[in-house]
Amino acid sequence: MLAIIGGSGLTQLASLAGTRREVVRTPYGEPSGPITFGEFCGKPIAFLARHGYGHTIPPHEINYRANLWALRECGAHGVVAVASVGSIRADLVPGGIVIPHQIIDYTWGRKSTFHEGADCTVTHIDFTEPYDEALRARLIAAAAAVGVAASDHGVYATTQGPRLETAAEINRFEGDGADLVGMTGMPEAALARELDLPYAAINVVANYAAGRGDSSKGISFEAIQGVLEVSMGQVRAILEHLIAN
Ligand code: HPA
Repeated sequence: MLAIIGGSGLTQLASLAGTRREVVRTPYGEPSGPITFGEFCGKPIAFLARHGYGHTIPPHEINYRANLWALRECGAHGVVAVASVGSIRADLVPGGIVIPHQIIDYTWGRKSTFHEGADCTVTHIDFTEPYDEALRARLIAAAAAVGVAASDHGVYATTQGPRLETAAEINRFEGDGADLVGMTGMPEAALARELDLPYAAINVVANYAAGRGDSSKGISFEAIQGVLEVSMGQVRAILEHLIAN
């Protein structure tokens, strides 16, 4: 079963048949909300709204460990994360869709491993390639199949949030090699790897990052919402093709 973690702009999957919701408890506390189970084209699927169904949990307060643990507990054997991002690169325009291939982590103070506490042995996961290449390839193929011109690579910088970045921070991230900036990619990706859950992401460019493009005079949240509504239709089409095939 594939699991989808939906971010801002994707808090439910409308096209699911026969849905039921289940509250799942974990040793790490409460997930962001109940998990929705349903079927698409006869294939089972699980969905979790990362920020809660009422969009009430900010990025730094998400219980990433509980979310990933709960999805695996429910039988997920792969996770597709949907998240909106700011674009650092001029050619990745608002409304565009990117299947990222790398991550830089600037977050702090988040519970970012299952391997801690008195009974745990020291464990270092390999994270050279943070996304599962096979799942990434399926996402890229699904986007092509439904006619969405998604970019097939991008370096995702994860910031702590919830505030947006300064223009100088964005310059620094660009110098570090980042193309996109978001607030939720880590520790989500690393925790999935710790659980051996194949994990890949679909990023929707909501805006140019601070100081870039039309964001040089500040970022408008009204504009972000408008962009997300259109692009999430394309995200749904990609996901439906992925699940059905
Ligand atoms: N920065 C960080 N996270 C984001 C942005 C941004 O500009 N846009 C959407 N998520």
